[in-house]
Amino acid sequence: MSNVNSEILKRRTFGIISHPDAGKTTLTEKLLLMGGAIHVAGTVKSRKSGRFAASDFMEIEKQRGISVSSSVMGFVYNNFQVNLLDTPGHKDFSEDTYRTLTAVDSALMVIDCTKGVEMQTRKLMQVCRMRQTPILTFINKLDREGKHPIELLDEIEKELDIKVCPCSWPIGMGRSFKGVYDLLQSKVVFFKSHARSDSGDSFTFDSLDDPELQRYLGPLYATLREELELLSLYPAFDVEAYLAGSLTPVFFGSAVNNFGIQELLDCFVNIAPSPLPRQTLQREVCAQEPSFSGFIFKIHANIDPKHRDRIAFLRICSGVFERNKAYWHPRLKKKLRFANPTSFMARDKSIVDIAYPGDIVGLHDTGNFKIGDALTEGEGLKFTGIPHFSPEIFRVVVNKNPMKAKQLQKGLMQLCEEGLAQLFVRSLDQSKLLGTVGLLQFDVIQYRLAHEYGAECLFEPFDFYKACWVTANDAAILSQFWKSRQRQHATDIQDRPVYLAESQWGLDREMSENPDISFSFSSEI
Ligand code: G4P
Repeated sequence: MSNVNSEILKRRTFGIISHPDAGKTTLTEKLLLMGGAIHVAGTVKSRKSGRFAASDFMEIEKQRGISVSSSVMGFVYNNFQVNLLDTPGHKDFSEDTYRTLTAVDSALMVIDCTKGVEMQTRKLMQVCRMRQTPILTFINKLDREGKHPIELLDEIEKELDIKVCPCSWPIGMGRSFKGVYDLLQSKVVFFKSHARSDSGDSFTFDSLDDPELQRYLGPLYATLREELELLSLYPAFDVEAYLAGSLTPVFFGSAVNNFGIQELLDCFVNIAPSPLPRQTLQREVCAQEPSFSGFIFKIHANIDPKHRDRIAFLRICSGVFERNKAYWHPRLKKKLRFANPTSFMARDKSIVDIAYPGDIVGLHDTGNFKIGDALTEGEGLKFTGIPHFSPEIFRVVVNKNPMKAKQLQKGLMQLCEEGLAQLFVRSLDQSKLLGTVGLLQFDVIQYRLAHEYGAECLFEPFDFYKACWVTANDAAILSQFWKSRQRQHATDIQDRPVYLAESQWGLDREMSENPDISFSFSSEI
């Protein structure tokens, strides 16, 4: 096997999907500790809602160093190169969170056992669905009283429309949490609270029939046996179904106690896919192809006026990326060379000389990149599946200084190209509407417009529910549809018609009453 091929097979590039507070940061930290990428707990900064007010986004921006380098956290585990891509989830939830999932090969879903499936997980799961991303599930916080494990599995199956396959089974819960039965290795692993230390091991029983085990578990023993009988109702462990995105293996544990993480990680590196083929408008690109190709899925701008650099995040899809080599930018039709590409190993950024498919490289950018741009060795590729997503929070842009209208327009266009927000023009009154999926973006935009473009604006609330792209095979049907819906009509930055829905109920009604019209919740960039 060639060296490059073995590097590709070693790579596991994934993201975590979860609702805020489910334990993503804690789990990330435990994974990094296990991979030796960090040595002290508390290194991965949590950017939680409680710690910043929305207007306090500067606080977040002060931590740019951290958020850039924690955007991708790489570590080596059992000879696998694991690349964990951060999916910001609190106040900094944005389209970046969604788009990061277009750059991974698999996802890890974290569910809080006391809460079950929550809203943000549902939304992120929809994005995973678009590419049948394989998903492994970790049900967290078993040291707390939560929902019954069967109820949790039912919820995942029903609400997320994916089959579940328990790989471990909890024994008790909350105060009576004793450990898990590892169904893959048929052994009992006992819970030991590691809250105060990050090391410590679990002791195991090899047979369920061991009288010692019965004595230890007391009444929980009978419950465990009964529940294990019920598990035969679930599909067997099936790697193919997992890889096809139709079944999720489920593990139970407690991230803060470092319990159940190793089993999860062991399974993950073994079954998660190595870099998968990527679709382009022209053809499918395989990781093993000799020619280099990759796409930009995120652009990170520094808002400190003294350091106006941007970092474009490149996902390598095929071939080998080399420092200082000239690569082709198909949209701009020009060659670019990168002297200081960065790789991300936990919190440290370092210059990278060579990177492989599945790796993420940070490229210093002076304005050459837009989200979705490709880099190749000369081929005119356009990667697909890096879309815009339906915004859900809207503001009307009001220019505060008519003398600076041009600057405002330029700033809005550029910030939208960076992926901060989407710009729409309403047909009713030609007003400019910004749409995002997270609130924080508006503060960032206002600040950057003022500091980078000298443009001042106000945002007025616009109480709509969601924007979606509308198409129909028959142009006459579409124009008939719009005739009575001027209030709902807007166009996006590419002049495509967008329907502004006022409520889910209204949207559902429109969709059922207009079967010849397709309402889409994402659109290709
Ligand atoms: P997030 O990134 O998904 O938002 O969640 P994060 O890891 O920050 O965890 C949210 C809260 O849940 C934290 O408590 C964390 O300690 C706690 N937590 C994580 N895993 C477990 C677990 O297995 N069991 C229990 N009982 N709690 C868990 P916090 O009080 O909000 O923050 P902190 O002061 O502990 O950092």
